Amino acid sequence: MTAIRHFPTRADLDPGAFEALVKTPTRAEDWPLAERVEAGIPIYAAACARDCLERDDSETNARRRALLEEWHHCLAQGPGVLAITGMVEGAVVDRATETFLALIEAERGIGQRGDHFAAAGANDRLWNAFQKHGEADPDGFVCYYANPVLALVAKAWLGPGYQLTSQVNVVKPGGRAQLPHRDYHLGFLSEAQALDYPLGQQVASQYLTLQGAVAHDDMPLESGPTQLLPHSQRYAEGYLAYRDPAFQEVFARHRVQLPLAKGDGLFFNPALFHAAGDNDSQHRRRMANLLQISSAFGRAMESVDNARLIRKCYAALTTRFQRGGWTPQTHACVDALAESYPFPANLDRTAPRAGGLAPESQRELLARALTEAWPETQLHDALACLARARCA
Ligand SMILES: [Fe+2]
Repeated sequence: MTAIRHFPTRADLDPGAFEALVKTPTRAEDWPLAERVEAGIPIYAAACARDCLERDDSETNARRRALLEEWHHCLAQGPGVLAITGMVEGAVVDRATETFLALIEAERGIGQRGDHFAAAGANDRLWNAFQKHGEADPDGFVCYYANPVLALVAKAWLGPGYQLTSQVNVVKPGGRAQLPHRDYHLGFLSEAQALDYPLGQQVASQYLTLQGAVAHDDMPLESGPTQLLPHSQRYAEGYLAYRDPAFQEVFARHRVQLPLAKGDGLFFNPALFHAAGDNDSQHRRRMANLLQISSAFGRAMESVDNARLIRKCYAALTTRFQRGGWTPQTHACVDALAESYPFPANLDRTAPRAGGLAPESQRELLARALTEAWPETQLHDALACLARARCA
């Protein structure tokens, strides 16, 4: 039997090993295409990246490949985070900022808007900003995303065929820091849910998403730019560890912050420990467009209409359930029939849900229907309601 635990628990965590890992120095000579290294983070100039995109000759292609290589290595085995200065032009950012603020104002009063990670009122959050931005200001949106440097960093981590989503976060003066965490996928699951995924899946999941942020305001340290823990993405058991007080102490001892200027981009491995910082300024708003870029591989080969399948099979499933209750066979059948993953979700309609970050999945809904002996009409209505709630 190997010593590696494929289903680790908190008892397998080692804060000492984690601390040794995050004390790895980031050496400038390891990141030759970066302009400089600051706070342990390689910083690249967008102008340098654009130079690698201008022509299609062998020398330019070789430079582009070298940059892709360096960025991927930085995000995977290096510090896990990089910054790109001057990635989006100031006027383009300002136009998008105006659109975001107008959208936030329009949503205020529609209903209670929640945030997964902050107390009510400390910040403004615009879910699915990508869609709303494009629909509200198509010309501005096209200018914003006609950005080959953004495309290049996405390809460096995910290859071609990626898909963009974004959420805007505005932290007001006085807004308090988040607790350190990891991001989507497993960062949106409860610890109990994460424990059921073998370690290989936990580690592999980091390769399915690139986390990014575009600074929409200048972000000096007093405004609380994101606290980051370079090299922490390499701690394999990190999805189980980030809630542990001993790991939070390591985070507090070694975390760094990088001041950003408007239009700068910050990109990190979703497994990197991080937290939005304290906004200690008197008047400084801190707006970021948080980009979440997903791998093309996060999809099934065929599309299945699970809701239709559930409606067809509900009577047979109910008969089985009434005979034996929650047997392993019934569990297996429910797992096979229904979508067990609650994402992609519409977070305006579903966030935040008490007791967790993830909305209810189709599988959980079907389980409720069986346990509570819903009639078919009630199940049909609930499935339709869930489908509507998931639509953009
Ligand atoms: Fe986060």
